[in-house]
Amino acid sequence: MSWSSSNSFLVLLLVTLPILVIFGFLSLYSPPFSIESSSKLLETEGSAAALAAVPSTTTPPLISSNSQHGEASEPPTPHGSTKPNREAPSDQADETHTPIFNHFVGASKRKSSPLKKIEASLARARFSIREASQIRNWTSTYHEDPDYVPHGPVYRNANAFHRSYLEMERLFKIYVYEEGEVPLFHNGPCRSIYSTEGRFIYEMEKGQLFRTRNPDKALVYFLPFSVVMMVHYLYVPNSHKDHYFQRVIVDYIDIISNRYPFWNRSLGADHFMLSCHDWGPRVSSFVPHLFHRSIRVLCNANTSEGFKPSKDASFPEIHIRTDKITGLIGGLHPSRRSVLAFFAGRLHGHIRYLLLQQWKNKDQDVQVYEELPHKVSYDSMLKKSKFCLCPSGYEVASPRVVEAIYAECVPVLISDSYIPPFSDVLNWKSFTVQVEVKDIPNIKTILMAISQRQYLRLYMRVKQVQRHFIVNATPKRFDVFHMTLHSIWLRRLNVQIQDQ
Ligand SMILES: *[C@@H]1O[C@H](CO)[C@@H](O)[C@H](O)[C@H]1NC(C)=O
Ligand SMILES: *[C@@H]1O[C@H](CO)[C@@H](O)[C@H](O)[C@H]1NC(C)=O
Ligand SMILES: *[C@@H]1O[C@H](CO)[C@@H](O)[C@H](O)[C@H]1NC(C)=O
Repeated sequence: MSWSSSNSFLVLLLVTLPILVIFGFLSLYSPPFSIESSSKLLETEGSAAALAAVPSTTTPPLISSNSQHGEASEPPTPHGSTKPNREAPSDQADETHTPIFNHFVGASKRKSSPLKKIEASLARARFSIREASQIRNWTSTYHEDPDYVPHGPVYRNANAFHRSYLEMERLFKIYVYEEGEVPLFHNGPCRSIYSTEGRFIYEMEKGQLFRTRNPDKALVYFLPFSVVMMVHYLYVPNSHKDHYFQRVIVDYIDIISNRYPFWNRSLGADHFMLSCHDWGPRVSSFVPHLFHRSIRVLCNANTSEGFKPSKDASFPEIHIRTDKITGLIGGLHPSRRSVLAFFAGRLHGHIRYLLLQQWKNKDQDVQVYEELPHKVSYDSMLKKSKFCLCPSGYEVASPRVVEAIYAECVPVLISDSYIPPFSDVLNWKSFTVQVEVKDIPNIKTILMAISQRQYLRLYMRVKQVQRHFIVNATPKRFDVFHMTLHSIWLRRLNVQIQDQ
């Protein structure tokens, strides 16, 4: 698609805008909520600290678009509305408005608006999860689950996670905005390094799971644009110009905030976007509320780029080359893994530079390649190594993490400011090794110091968490699709939204 046709897409969207009247403002506050019961388990990870249970008396600031990481986050956006809509309910409402609209106009008179009902059910869910989290036990107390019972130290709190998961299955409903056109919207890559972006959009669009067509019943609202597709269709290579992205995203949010009451009601806090592309954070920054308030589900979960673990969610990058991933799952028995540590990859970014400089072609135990020898297969190296090095590249996330988990090779995360996927639920320290960038020269010493017993424990746990990273053609409970949904669900629990 050329720029001119996407231009006409914008014009079309703009012209067809029905302007709904302003009907009121909503206050919003967000008592931090967590599936953790105390901060003790959390001290290790920034992500979890942010999700830690704090008495709900804390009253975070009302609607504001304060930036949490001053730098790099606020490009000039002439359109971005940062002003909360505080006008009084208008009396322009009449019979020409949709039932949705009337619902909200009548909300103050009625006892229980749809939103109030939703919030009441969320309050019960919070209570129930909090209760479950008090039982400090590494095994879920719900043993009747036919598919899987979360257990063991791979979870921050297995019991709370299980309860939260079951509550999600009971209550979670997502509205997918229909505005926007293919290929930039409702569409995305289902293969390649960005497959998780396309697959999630595809599953939501199919509408079999958790989707509602009634926006009044939704707990969250999905903005189904694909950053990968925007880059593909709108970016002029090497131009370093992204004003087309800006127009698309600003116009899109304008449209949905004019056409529906939901965006203004929460200023985006119950809306989510999802992107696996490096530029996901950048694209979201064109609308300040999208950046600062909405749930952003990102592979590029870089806290130095404004990723905020209490409201944003990290999801995995999974390199899918063909439709079958089955061949990638599994590897040699631990006793037959002959390589201590393995990495192969290009020189992308400064962490890789340090790694390659230090270890490339230097050591039989720590095998680091910029390019694999001709007859050596990448997959078989993963399957016969004990540890797989997963350094950040040009951005923090690496598809190697999931490749390693699939191959039952213990991931060694080497990154800065990275929040790994599902950190709110998974205790990454229990099944990976985390090496600081400054310790790259000590990798061998660090890995050699891990006893066989400890290694076997890590190995077993990697096998256990595999299910949370598996991509299924038809999603299955507890797989990567459901874990991504669960992250969104958990962040929705973090906010309370009111009509008035
Ligand atoms: C939402 O707010 C914007 C800007 O404040 C306004 O232009 C728009 O009409 C509002 N939308 C609705 C549905 O009231
Ligand atoms: C944890 O819960 C399981 C199942 O209810 C129980 O068998 C086990 O004894 C509990 N462990 C602790 C330490 O309470
Ligand atoms: C994370 O973001 C910071 C700030 O933009 C940047 O300097 C750094 O390179 C990023 N990390 C990676 C691995 O890209």
